[in-house]
Amino acid sequence: FDLLATETIPALIRGHTGPQPIRIWIAGCSSGQEAYSIAMLIDAALETAAKPCDVQIFASDVDAGALAEAREGVYLDTSGVGAARLERYFTRDGAGFRVKPRLRAAITFAQHDVLADPPFARLDLISCRNLMIYLAPAAQDRLLESFHFALVPGGKLLLGKAETAGAPNLRFQAVSDSARLFANLPRADRGALPVPVSHTRQEHMKAAPPDHRPGVTTPAKVSPKASAAELRAELAVALQELAEARAAQSAQREDALSLSAQYQAANEELLASKEELQALNEELTALNTQLQETLEEQRTTSEYLQNVLYSTNVATLFLNPDLHIRFFTPATRALFSLRPGDIGRPLADLAPLSSDQELLADAQSVLDGTPLIEREIEGQGGTWFNRRVLPYKTSGDTIDGVVITYSEITERHKTHEALANAERVAQHANDAKTRFLAVASHDLRQPLQTLVILQGLLMTAVTDARASGLVERLGETLSAMARMLDVLLDINQIEAGAIRPEKTDFTINEIFERLIKEFGYTARAKGLQLRMVPCGYVVNSDPDLLEQMLRNLVSNALKYTPRGKVLIGCRRRGRGVVIEVWDTGIGIAESEIMVVFEEYHQI
Ligand SMILES: C[S@@+](CC[C@H](N)C(=O)[O-])C[C@H]1O[C@@H](n2cnc3c(N)ncnc32)[C@H](O)[C@@H]1O
Repeated sequence: FDLLATETIPALIRGHTGPQPIRIWIAGCSSGQEAYSIAMLIDAALETAAKPCDVQIFASDVDAGALAEAREGVYLDTSGVGAARLERYFTRDGAGFRVKPRLRAAITFAQHDVLADPPFARLDLISCRNLMIYLAPAAQDRLLESFHFALVPGGKLLLGKAETAGAPNLRFQAVSDSARLFANLPRADRGALPVPVSHTRQEHMKAAPPDHRPGVTTPAKVSPKASAAELRAELAVALQELAEARAAQSAQREDALSLSAQYQAANEELLASKEELQALNEELTALNTQLQETLEEQRTTSEYLQNVLYSTNVATLFLNPDLHIRFFTPATRALFSLRPGDIGRPLADLAPLSSDQELLADAQSVLDGTPLIEREIEGQGGTWFNRRVLPYKTSGDTIDGVVITYSEITERHKTHEALANAERVAQHANDAKTRFLAVASHDLRQPLQTLVILQGLLMTAVTDARASGLVERLGETLSAMARMLDVLLDINQIEAGAIRPEKTDFTINEIFERLIKEFGYTARAKGLQLRMVPCGYVVNSDPDLLEQMLRNLVSNALKYTPRGKVLIGCRRRGRGVVIEVWDTGIGIAESEIMVVFEEYHQI
């Protein structure tokens, strides 16, 4: 009570204005000591403040027996009262002390159940000590709500040492935690009153102290032998109690009237809220139906997806952002020893059945933003897989994990390997061919050179005109052979990367004329006409390589044309020139045309 005496009560008196009294309620007052202590503090504070001020003190308890003791105001043990107060407020009464009538008259005692009866209202201070500890949490909460309503904003609530005013700053704010003194916070809605519920008190109680069982009343005992004086004293007490009961009743009636108006307003608000709630409820029901439908659709979609995933036979692992397993398809068991219970396990814990050292690092890298990592992984028993790691993206395009897929590529892998082997073998053969041709063309050059010398000697030795012509033709054929050998050597060198085409400007006609001269004899010998369409275009190319190409085409045309003619010509096409060799021979099937440009290919 120190804080009450030094601060709370003096402040209450100091701040009091207006005609209405200061109102104090001691709830669960038991045999009254607490109520008398507060009444003494008020009396002393009023005297100190020297301020005329009307104070109403209500003290209530559910236990009529305890109330009877309180009204009596006689105490055997006054050790905590102090000599000065004992002197001022008590008179000796047999073995004990009785409160003086002035102090007794300051308090109105009333039987009242805090859980079932409406509370007193417009109170400045409530003291309810050591009552709540016997209540169940729900009843405690309702009692606090009731006190919150009964106190004016800023009004004080004093609780027992083991009691608390509920969640901090909900209804009350602590003035002193250690003194268990709280200030009432303003109500958000003054209309919503705590409505007492008519449960039995036993339902609210956790346990009751043996000497304070609620509802136990002590009937007034009047001895049949009582004297007239004793009867008068009993009557005086009874009249006093009647007066108090009336005072408490009239205070409660006043409160009840003001409460009734507030109940009315609250009731109207409740009705309006109820209608709103009904409308809201209908909306919620509609929304709920929609949600159910959406949920059903999602379930179906999820089943479709699962079927698709399972039917593709592509092993698929879904990982969360911590690289723990979210989901996997049955095909994954070819690569990891996985069981359904492994969902939620870290990927790092899985025993891989493949030698995939980079898997964790790849998954982390994709989580960090790499769009895709693809690798070929060897599985068990010579199987091969194409492993792809992709980010798992949400509809908001944020990365929320990783998807790993494994598609089997064993056949493709075998084909690739076979191809690579074949390529190696072909390359080997090609190298051998190149070496052979290089050697062969060198070896052929030697006898050819001898033939050229012999042809020169023959030319000087022959006098007959026809024989001279034949020797001259022989010379041209030998020159063509020499050029072919040169080109053969060149092709080898090109293949070996040794030479590059040397481009220069020249007229196409020069090549045409040389070819007509070179193949004229062969054509005539076969009874064929070999002609050229003269052409004045100047082109930029390698003349030797171009001539060799045309030589092949003309020689081929003559070879496969039994009768008729072979014609060489050219025409302009865009920024280039198209050279054509026409013949009346057997021709080449459409499908084979491109093949003739391949090396050493014969149709
Ligand atoms: C342990 S005593 C506390 C007395 C006093 N406040 C004190 O601290 O010394 C608890 C009192 O609360 C009373 N009580 C219990 N339930 C009550 C209720 N529902 N309404 C009013 N008083 C109640 C009991 O009858 C008892 O007198």
